Amino acid sequence: MSGIDSEFRSKHTNSSKLAEESGMLFPDGVTHDTRYVSPFPLFMVEGLGSHKWDVDGNKYVDYVSGHGSLILGHSHPDIVAAVTKQVAKGTHLGANTELEMRWAKSIKTLMPSVEKIRFHSSGTEATMMAMRLARAYTGKDKIIKFQDHFHGWHDYASAGSDRGTGGIPSTTLESMIVLHDGNIDLVEDCLSKDKNIAAVIVEPSGAHMGSLPLHPDFLHDLRAVTRKYNVVFIMDEVVTGFRLSKGGAQVRYGLDPDLTTMAKIVAGGLPGGAVGGHVDIMDMIAHRGVTSWDDTYRVSHPGTFNANPLAAVAGATCLEILNKDDVNIRADQAATKLKNGFNQVFGKMEISGVAYGVSSLVQIAFGLECNPDEVWSIPRQDVTGRARPGAKQGFKKAMLNAGVDTMGGSGLIVSGFHSDKDVSDTITAFEEALVALRQENLL
Ligand SMILES: Cc1ncc(COP(=O)(O)O)c(C=O)c1O
Repeated sequence: MSGIDSEFRSKHTNSSKLAEESGMLFPDGVTHDTRYVSPFPLFMVEGLGSHKWDVDGNKYVDYVSGHGSLILGHSHPDIVAAVTKQVAKGTHLGANTELEMRWAKSIKTLMPSVEKIRFHSSGTEATMMAMRLARAYTGKDKIIKFQDHFHGWHDYASAGSDRGTGGIPSTTLESMIVLHDGNIDLVEDCLSKDKNIAAVIVEPSGAHMGSLPLHPDFLHDLRAVTRKYNVVFIMDEVVTGFRLSKGGAQVRYGLDPDLTTMAKIVAGGLPGGAVGGHVDIMDMIAHRGVTSWDDTYRVSHPGTFNANPLAAVAGATCLEILNKDDVNIRADQAATKLKNGFNQVFGKMEISGVAYGVSSLVQIAFGLECNPDEVWSIPRQDVTGRARPGAKQGFKKAMLNAGVDTMGGSGLIVSGFHSDKDVSDTITAFEEALVALRQENLL
């Protein structure tokens, strides 16, 4: 057994025991694909601020950050207080609430492109709704998405993804046009030839939270070309929303999308999502006619937990804090320190690798040497393909052994509550992890 694995097993005996049982309850023993770790996943019990603790009593600096939802860290006191108060007042009131209006207004304040909104329970629902709205509004069927851009796990979003398309009807996949990103001529060529395209959807950071980064000029080109061909431009801000700036990627780069999809930060760490955008598209949901025929073309939108009061109060509280504090700036600064620190370690240890990423999203590519600001210009197979097999999993476990949890083994999602000490502990852990990986010939 490798040194990394044997340390992992000895530090996590309680997780190992629980994993035997979870393997019988859940496929792969986990409830989300990316939580899978071989030989077994870890079980966590508690999170506070930038830290979390597992069932063996180990403490971690946490950069999974609730899959990107916890820009305020774990259990921010204002969110705990707001949710606790609301639990006692009702978790589902089956009617409008003032809370959902407060939530919607907090979004509109930060994202000027959002005129009207509907809430959902996840980002997957949000992108599904955005695509349907675009189809209903334009009367067209097809959607352009980009290879590897992740928009959740519904049937349409799964086209052009490396995560498996089992069980999806081929006709559904055929309604999706998957293009490589970064080349506006490809997009324009497609729009000029195919008159049945309703929308273009993009992950504004580039695929997988910016692990395959995108130059912002491409976003501006997309906006221009979608306008030229009367196609709905959807910015999927599930990750970038309220992170790349208070108003997301669109405010950071000065863009005006037709529709925006949101989740994660928008719900303050509780389950929630939203679609917002121009009123004429959003109002495809509104009842219009006096006869059922008038409503044939409307987009229906039920959903038991839409704008659930707990998510509403957590989301509104979170966005109000972001609006008045410098949380985004602090998160970006901590991420910059991490990237610089990691790149210094790569240099000092003479290991090929680069830490890069936009805003508070830190990515690591093993085997690649380049200017961190220019990863967007490197062919994608070189960004992801140069790492030795097993490097990512090995890194995830070596970092856990050293007291740091990373997202998927190559990403760190930074909150506004990661301290300088967290950053320096993480850089120390990074160096320890690289020593362990080198010993096992994984670099
Ligand atoms: C850009 C993007 N869109 C959509 C989703 C789906 O969101 P959810 O996991 O809430 O369904 C994700 C999830 O990570 C995402 O990263």
